[in-house]
Amino acid sequence: MNADDPRPKTQTPFVIWFTGLSGSGKSTLASIVEELLRAREVPVHNLDGDALRRGLNQDLGYDDDARDESIRRIGEVTRILVDAGHVVLVAAISPFESGRKRARSLIEPGRFIEVFVDVPLDVAEARDPKGLYRLAREGHLTNFTGIDSPYEPPSHPEVHVDAVALNPRDAGELVIASLEAAGLLANRS
Ligand SMILES: Nc1ncnc2c1ncn2[C@@H]1O[C@H](COP(=O)(O)OP(=O)(O)O)[C@@H](O)[C@H]1O
Ligand SMILES: [Mg+2]
Repeated sequence: MNADDPRPKTQTPFVIWFTGLSGSGKSTLASIVEELLRAREVPVHNLDGDALRRGLNQDLGYDDDARDESIRRIGEVTRILVDAGHVVLVAAISPFESGRKRARSLIEPGRFIEVFVDVPLDVAEARDPKGLYRLAREGHLTNFTGIDSPYEPPSHPEVHVDAVALNPRDAGELVIASLEAAGLLANRS
């Protein structure tokens, strides 16, 4: 590219969809990726499942149908933002393959980057930053993913993050490198 080219650089819109158990590190990783993208002057919308439960999804519970509806809505909002040309990050457990597939189907092929933030249940449970696993084990919380509600791991995620071996910063760099490889982000050099 000619450095003197006066035309504004255009950024391809896309979505990075972080899925994984509660406590796997989705929100942490999404924040780091947001920071790394902003450092490259790519503005992003960061949609966090927990935050959306205080507004858009405040009427929903946690049974299978409610979880499905929550993900359907997040997928629709994502579609609107991507159609408007934005880069969107979604951090949501999104436990069911069908829901993630539907969200993917709303986005142009190649622009939906599914990132599986993968930790074994015992690691997520040991982290338990919000004390929710303990509540679920004690029977005070029902339909908790990994305990009495299933998590279906993605079969073909664009990025599979081993969130035990990798610290969040390195995982963030891995996601950025995969965006470059997919042609969604200009190489820094
Ligand atoms: N790659 C990692 N390695 C070690 N600890 C992590 C990693 N990613 C996140 N954590 C820690 O794990 C906990 C859960 O992270 P969080 O991002 O809130 O998970 P989620 O959004 O998936 O529920 C936090 O205490 C966070 O600091
Ligand atoms: Mg989170």
